[in-house]
Amino acid sequence: MTDPGFTPTQLAARAAYLLRGNDLGTMTSAAPRLYPHMWSWDAAFVAVGLAPLSVERAVVELDTLLSAQWKNGMIPHIVFANGVDGYFPGPARWECRRLAANAPEGPDTSGITQPPVHAIAVQRILDHSRRHGRSTRAVAQEFLNRRWPDLVRWHRWLAHARDPKENGRITLYHGWESGMDNSPRWDRAYANVVPGVDLPPYRRADTVVISDPTQRPSDREYDRYLWLVEQMRRANYDDFQLTSVMSFAVEDVFVSAIFALACEVLADIGEEYKQPHSDVRELHGWAARFRKGVAATADERTGAAKDYDVRLGRWINTETLAMFAPLISGGLSRPAERALLNTFEGPRFCGHPDLRYALPPSTSPVAKDFRPREYWRGPVWPVMSWLFSWAFARRGWAERAYLLRAEGLRQAADGSFAEYYEPFTGAPLGSMQQSWTAASVLDWLG
Ligand code: GLC
Repeated sequence: MTDPGFTPTQLAARAAYLLRGNDLGTMTSAAPRLYPHMWSWDAAFVAVGLAPLSVERAVVELDTLLSAQWKNGMIPHIVFANGVDGYFPGPARWECRRLAANAPEGPDTSGITQPPVHAIAVQRILDHSRRHGRSTRAVAQEFLNRRWPDLVRWHRWLAHARDPKENGRITLYHGWESGMDNSPRWDRAYANVVPGVDLPPYRRADTVVISDPTQRPSDREYDRYLWLVEQMRRANYDDFQLTSVMSFAVEDVFVSAIFALACEVLADIGEEYKQPHSDVRELHGWAARFRKGVAATADERTGAAKDYDVRLGRWINTETLAMFAPLISGGLSRPAERALLNTFEGPRFCGHPDLRYALPPSTSPVAKDFRPREYWRGPVWPVMSWLFSWAFARRGWAERAYLLRAEGLRQAADGSFAEYYEPFTGAPLGSMQQSWTAASVLDWLG
């Protein structure tokens, strides 16, 4: 494969141009054809990329997302763009407004959630606003004051509705809630999901856009995804009912680590910008609870973290990005942390000798479930490289953060801004012009 090798300036211009092109007005589509709506964690990453271009536009992105927040505090995983077709399951399949008492009055949304990375975006927005004059600073500050209660409500919902036993881990009722839809992490749990004969028929839209089936989940996987949506519909998306009726329930250690980190970030913001003490205290409390909850799953020697299958009552051990959760949230002993960093950088992950770039594949190339082209079963996802580099920088590991950034930019120099990349060849896969890929590059170059 030949690299056209865009220079950093060209790359930044192209990334900015891409976000402009995916801008629907008050929301940025996650990707032009495959994902023509707003996705929750995509929107946060997009805001990170928009912040250096325009603080004002980044604020609009988060405002749009938060305007779709549910009455119980949940931020839904999709906010549907008005009048845009071509995605399945769309609003007619979810039917949240008809079925869910907590659905917002305004926009159509899905009925599940996604990883809580939003505090990171808020922090990036505030950071960038400080480089500007008074009016931009005022926009960011006004946004924070207005949305602070919503952000805390979001975190409170996660801490209460999704960790009712207070063990410091977030429970998910659909693999899509993890953001890593078909990761091998969920294979066993999904094997337990048996679609009923009364699963209403449907037609996939994703395979029309990506015609190579080796890059997308299988039809069988899709039946299960849709069956879970059906179970939620029948429970009217009620938080309490979901705990017992869903045939899929897992404690996601990676989402839990993100939550611990996000609580810390939000608490820092709250302190700096003089938000209510009681909120800040609560956020610190959740951060500590989830940091501990994540660390408690880790192997004492290797530091590797695990998910937990609530239905089967067993731990889920996989060699995927999830095992590195404690690198994001902290809380390991020094030796365990060192061991886990060695795994991250060693031949099972970033240091695998055949990798095109030293970036973490979604699943280890030496794992038996590894598929180099298939979505979350192997490819490198640039936005995950970004998340690790950001989290490492925050933890004070400047050199490691720098290395991920440098390799991430080398990978991005092809200018495709792909959703994910084949780890050995570096071939761009999935959707092209993916918004969060462009956003990651913009932040790295900022
Ligand atoms: C896929 C990814 C998910 C992402 C969405 C939009 O479903 O698995 O993490 O949010 O696409 O980009």
